[in-house]
Amino acid sequence: MPAVEIVRTIDEVRDAIGGASPVFLVPTMGYFHEGHLSLIRTAAEDKVSEPEGLVAVSLFVNPTQFNDPKDLEAYPRDEERDAALAREAGCDLLFLPTAREMYPPDEGGTRVMPPRVARKWEGEHRPGHFVGVATVVLKLFHIFFPDVAYFGEKDWQQCRVIAEMVRDLNLPVWLKLCPTVREPDGLAMSSRNTRLSKEARARAVELYRALLAVADAAARGEDFQKECERAKERLFAAGFESVDYIAVVDGETLEPASAPGPGLRAIGAATIEGVRLIDNVSVD
Ligand code: PAJ
Repeated sequence: MPAVEIVRTIDEVRDAIGGASPVFLVPTMGYFHEGHLSLIRTAAEDKVSEPEGLVAVSLFVNPTQFNDPKDLEAYPRDEERDAALAREAGCDLLFLPTAREMYPPDEGGTRVMPPRVARKWEGEHRPGHFVGVATVVLKLFHIFFPDVAYFGEKDWQQCRVIAEMVRDLNLPVWLKLCPTVREPDGLAMSSRNTRLSKEARARAVELYRALLAVADAAARGEDFQKECERAKERLFAAGFESVDYIAVVDGETLEPASAPGPGLRAIGAATIEGVRLIDNVSVD
């Protein structure tokens, strides 16, 4: 298996890409699990028919998207393990920049104002989060000039924010959204899951189950508001200490749904043992 090339500066990225085309980019914050690896594998599959193509993965724990400094500090990191996993999944080029490389001390503080779809839910509960996400993703797009970029549906609102940014700013990149990878019991894989005790880990799956129940009620045309309230009670009963939101929304606009209809999603965010988890499922 050819070694993955590890680079730490933007100049090195440009040199490493050279004339490679198309460029397939997977932006991440590392501590890889099967969710991340599924994105990298999809990129590697897309490269099969492209002899001049290159699969690039960025690994950067982006400080500007963390509204809670404790969360940033506690974010798990393991570069060596990640490099080995990325290579196995088919990554050719791994970008591991420092915060100084991405945000040099002399930077002017230019930031992307995220689209309307960023306002509610995560945007409301994590002020500034999507400014940081949109800014770093735009920077990565300008560093790599990818033809295709891969994102996970696990972060549904993030996918919508990036898709709107790409459309509004006419960015020449094709987005590929990949399905959520789950643990055998249904818990969405997340780097933050590793911070849970065994007991809390076992109860964390209730978030997914609660969302399925809400989606089921919405799909049957029942009163899903009532089901959202029941879902919150269910999470508190399972030991979650707070529930930021459980809602049924239009999958495109992220506006709360007022009635059953096509394209809806059940979304939720809740905290157990100090670890904030988010998830979403489609309403079929
Ligand atoms: P991170 O949380 O590391 O996730 C990197 C990518 O993996 C995102 O597109 C995310 O949606 C996807 N992902 C995470 N868990 C997944 C799962 N269980 N199944 C499928 N895909 C999953 O999301 C970020 O980093 C950052 O906000 C980033 C986009 C890199 C900007 O800093």
